[in-house]
Amino acid sequence: MRVLVVGNGGREHALVWKIRQSPLVEKVFCTPGNGGMARLAECVDISPTDIKGLVHFAKRKSVDLTVVGPELPLTLGIVDRFQEKGLPVFGPDQRAAEVEGSKAFAKHLMTKYRIPTAEYQVFTEAEEANRYIRGKKPPFVLKADGLAAGKGVLICTSRNDAYDGVDRMMKQKVFGEAGNRLVVEEFLTGEEASVLAITDGDNLVIFPPAQDHKPIFEGDKGANTGGMGAYAPTPVVSPKMMEVVREKILLPAIRGMEKEGKRYRGVLYAGLMLTPEGPKVLEFNCRFGDPETQAILPLVDGDLIELMMASIEGNVRKVSIKVQNQAAVCVVMASGGYPGPYERGKAIKGLDQVAPEVLVFHGGTRRKGGFLETAGGRVLGVTAVGDTLPWAIEEAYRAVGKITFDGAYYRRDIGHRALKR
Ligand code: AMP
Ligand code: GLY
Repeated sequence: MRVLVVGNGGREHALVWKIRQSPLVEKVFCTPGNGGMARLAECVDISPTDIKGLVHFAKRKSVDLTVVGPELPLTLGIVDRFQEKGLPVFGPDQRAAEVEGSKAFAKHLMTKYRIPTAEYQVFTEAEEANRYIRGKKPPFVLKADGLAAGKGVLICTSRNDAYDGVDRMMKQKVFGEAGNRLVVEEFLTGEEASVLAITDGDNLVIFPPAQDHKPIFEGDKGANTGGMGAYAPTPVVSPKMMEVVREKILLPAIRGMEKEGKRYRGVLYAGLMLTPEGPKVLEFNCRFGDPETQAILPLVDGDLIELMMASIEGNVRKVSIKVQNQAAVCVVMASGGYPGPYERGKAIKGLDQVAPEVLVFHGGTRRKGGFLETAGGRVLGVTAVGDTLPWAIEEAYRAVGKITFDGAYYRRDIGHRALKR
């Protein structure tokens, strides 16, 4: 098979790495890819949102399967456009991708099909949102309805903060159209976890639960990022709780989507808060997580291509995955300044010093004149697998210690919650 992976992050590097292991696969393309994939895939400079260009490329190169990494092309209908041309593609179509593309829709789905989630209201008028806030106690969680590159959630500890947030989202439109509708939601407390599954709309194959570390600083302080590190499996989700997630969250979600006329195919990612009353959904994503994928895929034995084809063909009930009885941790090395403004073009050194069994997934990197340099916020995802989590953590940090670039920043406490246990 000839496989095309769309995207350029650490998640896509991990996907390319795993897909390359399939005996079914002869060639992998990645659009646009990054500086770390060259040995595994042919990188071609087409933007993930240039859907016409991607369709054309897939046809011209006789691509047998296209795998879409990021959410934006999915919500723009990349799957629909590929299907119209008879090109096999893994992921939800535009209507199904609404589960991530519209928080108001996701909340509606959860309420209608009794999927546990925070109490909420949806507003289209700032004045009404403010009136609602006046009648409730803080903290408040404000969510822009549409995609906002992971920045559309504000936690407001006072009413004034919340009024200000409403103003910025709905009047100043800091997230553009995404702020046309606003979800105001009850604040939940607990541990967070990510559970990802591959589905054909009927059945699910569920990956080991992972835990991401969204805030930039150690101890989960500071601004939210795309994710500064992840590990799997996380002991905060017990096997018994995984059963609850399957029966009360994932299955009702795909059944509900079917009833709404939005049959769901692809990866369904549940971002969970493990509250004292049980797991509740913070968000659904319509794609693999980044950096969760970098920690999950190294634990999965067997063929990812088979799973993806089963999702497309409606055969998920016939497949299963074997998961290694090990732990994996991915530590993200970021550019200094991220998630704010940061510089690019810093030489990356020391990769040849890293132990060969460590997986260094590239995100924001590029090759320039044969040298590797930084080209984005999250630069590398340094991933180690071990018999135990402490062992994997130690190995990952040993590798991180060998890699240098100007201004490199990483959290030193990835996996701290599990270690505390
Ligand atoms: P989301 O993009 O919806 O996952 O939100 C981003 C982050 O905001 C989550 O990872 C949580 O840390 C936090 N968050 C979202 N919703 C809530 C909520 N209802 N209560 C508390 N924290 C939340
Ligand atoms: N790591 C969070 C996400 O992929 O949305």
